[in-house]
Amino acid sequence: MPGTAVIGLQWGDEAKGKIVDILTAQQDVVVRYQGGANAGHTVVFNGQRYKLSLIPSGVFHPNVQCVIAGGVVCSPSALLAEIDTLVKLGVNVGKNLLISDRAHIIFPWHKIEDAMFDNIASGEAIGTTMRGIGPCYQDKYGRSLAVRFGDLYKPDFEEKIQTIAGAKNRLFNGLIGETDNSQMLPGIGIDIDAGAVFREYKGYADRLEKYVTDTTAYLLDAVDADKRILFEGAQGSLLDVDHGTFPYVTSSNSSAVGVCSGAGVPPHFIKKYVGIIKAYTTRVGGGPFPTELANDTGQCIRDRGKEYGTVTKRPRRCGWFDAVAARYTVRLGGIDTLAVMLLDVLSTFDELKICTAYTLDGSRVTAFPSHVDDLRRVEAIYETLPGWHEDITEVRQFSDLPLNAQNYLKRISGLIGKPIEMVSVGPGREQTIMLQF
Ligand code: GDP
Ligand code: IMO
Ligand code: MG
Repeated sequence: MPGTAVIGLQWGDEAKGKIVDILTAQQDVVVRYQGGANAGHTVVFNGQRYKLSLIPSGVFHPNVQCVIAGGVVCSPSALLAEIDTLVKLGVNVGKNLLISDRAHIIFPWHKIEDAMFDNIASGEAIGTTMRGIGPCYQDKYGRSLAVRFGDLYKPDFEEKIQTIAGAKNRLFNGLIGETDNSQMLPGIGIDIDAGAVFREYKGYADRLEKYVTDTTAYLLDAVDADKRILFEGAQGSLLDVDHGTFPYVTSSNSSAVGVCSGAGVPPHFIKKYVGIIKAYTTRVGGGPFPTELANDTGQCIRDRGKEYGTVTKRPRRCGWFDAVAARYTVRLGGIDTLAVMLLDVLSTFDELKICTAYTLDGSRVTAFPSHVDDLRRVEAIYETLPGWHEDITEVRQFSDLPLNAQNYLKRISGLIGKPIEMVSVGPGREQTIMLQF
């Protein structure tokens, strides 16, 4: 059986969690393979709302194996808190969860570094989630100061912490006064207590040991056994560190190109890429956003869509659907089908706009600019479509949608060049239209 990947095609929060939960019903294994607790994925069923940051959104299906693979950067305290919350809510988290011994570990110094460096390199802050994600990936690629789950159980773990904490203390103290953010830093001028960090993380290691294993070996066996595996992307393709709106991105390959490296499976195993898009666009944090609506229309979308960050509670920036950006990420990821989410949020406008091209230096362009300065300078060219006012949250058949909603979806699909497989008209599992194509 082939692998399937669920990939956000915008700047994150496309409602990937909802689709992963739905698709997991037909899977044997569900895998988170990149990012960390910067992700906030929401699943709603039976009147209950669940928020997940590290555990795959398929965890509500008891017979499905959940895997946190090696490409994830993991805060053990965030993971334990998430496990505890789920267990309190009656969700089984035991043998059905595996954590890669290759996954990198987030330490207190990563959060300090996140605060320290968020806005010193360029004018506008990246506006990270302050979860230490970028600094942990930095240490992963730097190698010398990195700690993986497997290291927690080796005899030199305490020594490793001593060495790394010493290096970080020298780094932080050397940087006092060098960053605008230094006054925000709890660690500045105060040495990180390596012994305390060791004891704290030893406690986490003991609690998490039963979940930790070689998930690459597990997944390769699952591939050989023809198991059905679903790969759950975090963030969105425009936040991809290599192919997104750099430097206003996250620190992992959050587009479809990151699935195989993050999970540790062969590329040819994945036969289907499902791209998730909102019926409009949102972005949290800094960086250019060509279709942003910094006005009453944007506020109306924010209010109707409850567009406030799952992780940081920040108001999400809202704007019209950008077909230039979505066509780029569909092509980048080899996306096969689309799920269009939060269509109900638009059921209030007389007219809707879709960005079909940009103007850059007086010329019309349809290629997504590679440099953030060029993306800042583009102007969106819009096509206007008639809207609808009917409540669509109870609709379950495409043909029951208002004609203008059907035409809006068809136009999006036409502009992107891919069929729509699912349409979401509310947060609940059942508020989903499945299409034949
Ligand atoms: P993710 O990070 O991609 O999983 O998305 P988030 O969970 O951060 O944000 C999506 C939000 O939209 C969540 O609050 C969902 O419960 C909600 N949601 C999902 N689908 C729909 C929908 O079709 N309509 C509405 N109104 N809300 C939805
Ligand atoms: P999910 O999986 C939306 C954004 C942050 C910031 C940038 C870098 O829920 O879609 P980071 O902490 O990763 O270094 O922040 O990326 N960001 C997200 N935006 N959804 C997410 O995850 C995000 N994860 C990171 O707001 O702009
Ligand atoms: Mg989210």
